[in-house]
Amino acid sequence: MNSCLMCGSRVSEFISFGPMPVANGFLTPEEFAQERFFPLNVGLCTTCKMVQLMERVDPGTLFHEGYPYFSSTSRSMSDHFQAFAGLVKVEYMDPADPFVVEIGSNDGIMLQHFAVASIRHLGIEPSTNVARVGMAKGINTVCEFFDQDLARSILDEYGPVDAFLGANVMCHIAELDSVLAGIKLLLKPEGVLIFEDPYLGDIVEKTSYDQMYDEHIFYFSVTSLGHALEKHSLELVDIMPQKVHGGSMRYVVAHRGARPVSPSVTAQCAREDALGLGLVETYERFSRSVEGSRKELMALLHDLKGQGKRVVGYGATSKSTTVTNFCGITEDLVEFISDTTPDKQGRYTPGAHIPVRPYQEFLADYPDYSLLFAWNHAEEIMANEQEFQNAGGKWIVYVPKVQVL
Ligand code: SAH
Ligand code: TMP
Ligand code: ZN
Repeated sequence: MNSCLMCGSRVSEFISFGPMPVANGFLTPEEFAQERFFPLNVGLCTTCKMVQLMERVDPGTLFHEGYPYFSSTSRSMSDHFQAFAGLVKVEYMDPADPFVVEIGSNDGIMLQHFAVASIRHLGIEPSTNVARVGMAKGINTVCEFFDQDLARSILDEYGPVDAFLGANVMCHIAELDSVLAGIKLLLKPEGVLIFEDPYLGDIVEKTSYDQMYDEHIFYFSVTSLGHALEKHSLELVDIMPQKVHGGSMRYVVAHRGARPVSPSVTAQCAREDALGLGLVETYERFSRSVEGSRKELMALLHDLKGQGKRVVGYGATSKSTTVTNFCGITEDLVEFISDTTPDKQGRYTPGAHIPVRPYQEFLADYPDYSLLFAWNHAEEIMANEQEFQNAGGKWIVYVPKVQVL
């Protein structure tokens, strides 16, 4: 029996993707033989409503000195984090000697805005290669996994926190209870935890099953998070839907009773009830939609191959590992995947072993179709690739449905 990471009750599995490689484990041909696979199965806890992975990969296997995701590769994400930092500075900082902490600070995409303003800050980033990029920008960083013990030493060294921030990281940590206990310890009486992650409601509505991979342990809803926070005498006081990563939710959390609770929190819980986010049937339906999506995408790719068309992938995202391996997309259907990240170029995608090539190769010889694995950056990418479209190039997307654009 699988018990819920948050409340210990039984978790009902609703989808099984089969064995999957490490989603960000881009590799060289010499490494193919040693590649490891892990079960990727997702379930719902019908008691506390938390959607979660049934089995998990050890964090040290996922986050290390060769982590290939550099947050600042996307222009629109840089803008997004500038606005996020701006909001925190204006709304949530005590003017007397403020202190801000960010978990999963990566290459400093958010904290750089505090560093330039000489605001006391600390980044927590266990992947040393990305952390080093942040440190080179002047960001004070500790290269460790955050937990309750690290929280104690941060409190001793720096004192309490005005704003504890996180983006696309809280859902990555199985020991969420230890993280929340640590944050509870660190926050000033008026302090806040503000974090955002891909939102379960969007994943279900858009059939964006590619959000499901080893790093994403939790798929939060406002309802399930509310339950997780209660245990730690923390309270969700506001929510702010975000467009990024295909639909995210930003959560503002405070000590229980310390701040007024916005009516948007209860309103969103009611919306989640109406959407059926706590019901097994909803996920059975989701699972059928995923199967339909796989069939349509594979039929399209086989059809294009039959017509002798060239298809190249755009964005070697971690999400694409789930799509390529679950659907069975290999090099015979998608010639290569273009990506601007130097650490991914020249390597092969996990499991499916599709070559990852520099973006210049996409530009040098446009394919007939480009399969947009980085669909969450569609607006930015399509605006940049007018020339590809003018040359007759077409996009293939699969979220919210399989389509040629
Ligand atoms: N916040 C950035 C990076 C997200 S990727 C953004 O939104 O773009 C997730 C990051 O969290 C990785 O850099 C990973 O190394 C880091 N991480 C994973 N587990 C962590 C933990 N327990 N404590 C702190 N950081 C962690
Ligand atoms: P993400 O979806 O997890 O943010 O990953 C996006 C990936 O796509 C990352 O490897 C960088 C790559 N990318 C490009 O190659 N070109 C682009 O224009 C953008 C925005 C991202
Ligand atoms: Zn539970």
